[in-house]
Amino acid sequence: MKSDLESIRSRRSVRTYDGSPLHPEDAQKVMDFAGNADNPYGIPVTWKLLDAKEDGLKCPVITGTDTFIAGKMRVVPHAEEAFGYAFERIVLYAESLGLGTTWIAGTMDRNAFEKAMDLEEGEVMPCVSPLGYPAKKMSLREILMRKGVRADSRIDFGKLFFDGDFGKPLTEEKAGALKDAFEAVRLAPSAVNKQPWRAVLCENKVHFYEYPTPGYVTESGWDLQKIDMGIALCHFVLGARECGIETVFDQADPGIPTGNGLQYIASYTFGS
Ligand SMILES: Cc1cc2nc3c(=O)[nH]c(=O)nc-3n(C[C@H](O)[C@H](O)[C@H](O)COP(=O)(O)O)c2cc1C
Repeated sequence: MKSDLESIRSRRSVRTYDGSPLHPEDAQKVMDFAGNADNPYGIPVTWKLLDAKEDGLKCPVITGTDTFIAGKMRVVPHAEEAFGYAFERIVLYAESLGLGTTWIAGTMDRNAFEKAMDLEEGEVMPCVSPLGYPAKKMSLREILMRKGVRADSRIDFGKLFFDGDFGKPLTEEKAGALKDAFEAVRLAPSAVNKQPWRAVLCENKVHFYEYPTPGYVTESGWDLQKIDMGIALCHFVLGARECGIETVFDQADPGIPTGNGLQYIASYTFGS
């Protein structure tokens, strides 16, 4: 089984599967893991496996598997970050088992998925993912989709991470023992590959911020890019842990001057 950092490095969205059904043992492992998938906000998420044929689901970008995993939760403050963190834990676990996944928030028949999840008033089903065995070759549609969002590229380290304040890019050298943890954040998946995460290293703290792309917040205030932020926090914690660094979560805005629309999300303290 791969370590978390190995899974973070090897994971990619898989949209073409080999057509074989998910083995019941793999399904059970994923659901057992999901039942224990934590998030720093302590917000509960209910997970369910769905079958595209039995449940009448359509997800046109995915071929070669009928199995999906989806999660639902109450709409509460920080639901997005909590969901992002917990679902990414599951995605990385699936990767470690050799299973493919793709975060899907938009390109599916949302009504059918929500019905299959028995979604109730006051609940949200933020995203779903297929689960299955990756095909040897990607479909043409998958290749084109990846090109469309430049899925294989990421923003440079020094444009995402900062040293003390937003005026000074963080170097890999200065990141020191946390270099792999920052790199794990850089590699994370995000909606339309926008990578909205930014972070500032200040002594023994790392402060995370969202750099929002216009158009990702609904009228009700639901912010898709805060799911990306939860994914980034997850990668940071797992990356740091694998480097032997335990981190403590808190939400206390340090008041670093931000300018251009950056929003404070959360901080991690290490080495204390
Ligand atoms: C919150 C979220 C929502 C996403 N929604 C979709 C989607 O609706 N359809 C899709 O094909 N991919 C979706 N993606 C996958 C991204 O396009 C993909 O993660 C990104 O392009 C980076 O590629 P990679 O995952 O292969 O590294 C989503 C990813 C995230 C994190």
